[in-house]
Amino acid sequence: MAELAALSKRRPEVDADWADLAAHWDIRPDTIYLNHGSFGPSPRVVRETRRRFIDALDCQPMDFYVRQFEPQLLEARRQLAEFLGTTQKNVVFAENATFAMNVVADSFPLKAGDEVLLNDHEYGAVLRIWERRCRRVGAQVKVAPLPERFESAEQVVEAITAGITRRTRLAIVSQITSPTAIILPVAEIAAACREREVAICVDGPHVPAQIDLHLDTLGVDFYCASLHKWLCAPLGTGFLYAHPRWQSIVQPQLLSWGRLLPALPEQWDEQFTWSGTRDSSLYLSVPAAIDFMTNTIGLGTFRSRCGWLANEAGARLLELTGERPLAPTTGGWYGTMCHVPLPPGDWSQLQNWLWEAHRIEVPIIHFNSRWFVRVSSHLYNTTAQIDLLVRALASRLAK
Ligand SMILES: Cc1ncc(COP(=O)(O)O)c(C=O)c1O
Repeated sequence: MAELAALSKRRPEVDADWADLAAHWDIRPDTIYLNHGSFGPSPRVVRETRRRFIDALDCQPMDFYVRQFEPQLLEARRQLAEFLGTTQKNVVFAENATFAMNVVADSFPLKAGDEVLLNDHEYGAVLRIWERRCRRVGAQVKVAPLPERFESAEQVVEAITAGITRRTRLAIVSQITSPTAIILPVAEIAAACREREVAICVDGPHVPAQIDLHLDTLGVDFYCASLHKWLCAPLGTGFLYAHPRWQSIVQPQLLSWGRLLPALPEQWDEQFTWSGTRDSSLYLSVPAAIDFMTNTIGLGTFRSRCGWLANEAGARLLELTGERPLAPTTGGWYGTMCHVPLPPGDWSQLQNWLWEAHRIEVPIIHFNSRWFVRVSSHLYNTTAQIDLLVRALASRLAK
């Protein structure tokens, strides 16, 4: 505790204060990795934990699966649920947010004529999932445009509720948007949906660790997320939350025994315990990631340093481009990612160029006919790396 308190006093703007924490990662030395938001590398302690589970499994699979796996998975789920502000019976592990969203899409009761409401900041693959599901039953996907410039939570709620009709059954909303890195006011959107008797499914892979999440009070029906972004759990870990009122309709897409024989599943969550022989090290390592981010680093410390880095990257890039961000840079619209419009032009080759010429990994995103740079900051990133990105972009924009 004393150590956590001391960490929280470090100066977010001083790289030297953070070098020991950056050393928890083994990022390839030739790479400036500014894309934790797409695929977040795990710190060494999580990789070592996973390695121990892989070894235990590979050396005696029968003992591992039959005697150790189920109690350990339940304990991992208990710790995850506690971290997410809910109870174990409301969450199941899923490989990623995509997997969880597919389970909701295949389970949610929809009929011909119904509507599912998304908005124009949603992740493209999520749109595809719902388009396919709606096509199959004769339902329709509607896409509500969010404001061109974000000013207030009320304005976002209004933009979404304007898309609700008497046919709308479900709204899909990202809590942190993928193409634009904006934190949407999900609790307010959920309350507005509830008033209109529309269910809400949140797509939240950028949320765990980046901002607080308390599922029991958020007021949503479903929540889909990955844990391999900001929480730094192994790639291929995520979860699905279903509010108790929906649990009886949730079905696994991938049907297996559900539990390990001779036990058979009785509750919805037990259907997801055993889905065939697979690498169980991934989910079992999630508690190590929770422990690292909460007890070794401290979530407040992580957010303070990485929020500062993201904000600094944003300020310097905005100064360079002379553009305006979609949402105010203060007031809680952004967390540990910044998002800056590039000047008008075709920047489709820029991401490749940054890698080829400078070994910088950063996504250049096409959104609503404009190009943007989205910079992610985690504890292994530094102000010096942001300098390199700014200088590289300055040289390119000057051409
Ligand atoms: C908002 C959003 N939804 C869904 C996904 C898909 O996540 P995953 O590949 O972990 O399933 C992403 C990935 O970046 C995302 O940003």
